[in-house]
Amino acid sequence: MNRLNKVIELVKPQYDRLDCWVHSWPHIERVTKNIIRITELEGVSFDSPLISGYCHDLGRIEEEARKERGESPLPHALLSIEPTIGVLQAVKISGVDFDEIVEAVTVHSYKTYEGNNLTAKILQDGDKLNGFGPYGVLGAIKYFGGIDYVDPKEIVANKEDRNATEELCNKSLTLCKGETLKKVIKGLGFVLEWYDMLHTKSAKNIIREEYEYTKQIRKDLIKTADI
Ligand SMILES: [Fe+2]
Ligand SMILES: [Fe+2]
Repeated sequence: MNRLNKVIELVKPQYDRLDCWVHSWPHIERVTKNIIRITELEGVSFDSPLISGYCHDLGRIEEEARKERGESPLPHALLSIEPTIGVLQAVKISGVDFDEIVEAVTVHSYKTYEGNNLTAKILQDGDKLNGFGPYGVLGAIKYFGGIDYVDPKEIVANKEDRNATEELCNKSLTLCKGETLKKVIKGLGFVLEWYDMLHTKSAKNIIREEYEYTKQIRKDLIKTADI
């Protein structure tokens, strides 16, 4: 079995334990797909960025468990460090690659990253791209609004179908009202700021249309909400 397949075998069952679809395995599938596209366009190796993509949100499992136990929250990126080290040791990654992947996972949720670690930059970009477009808006409704207006199984099953995802997004937005709508508008404002924070030109090119789509959705929602 090659190294990447071994990584997937180690991490997938962990993500599958998560209740919230926004952070579970489909999120990792999308982020790693983004990472592959960015590395191809940038003409750089995908190995370390991809492994960091598979490991970056492993801390969400402990985060969810802490919430259930009523314990105080800790940043999920920090909670991802220990399980990431476990995966890297299991697949025998050491030296510079080890250090770069662990750093990338540790800083992935920072708003900005000023260092020189390309793996960290590509991981941040791959993760942020996920917030744009109809899939990202559906994620924002759940994450910021706290509600799923359509069955998450349907969202996940259609995640590769842009038109079907847009339909689910429109359906959800027509049902989104009042305080929840205000929270979603605020959340989308937060997400839209990510575009200018993208490190690579490739990530900006990949997502430009979906960024414009998200911007328009937010403008329309502000009119509906009359704020
Ligand atoms: Fe994260
Ligand atoms: Fe993530």
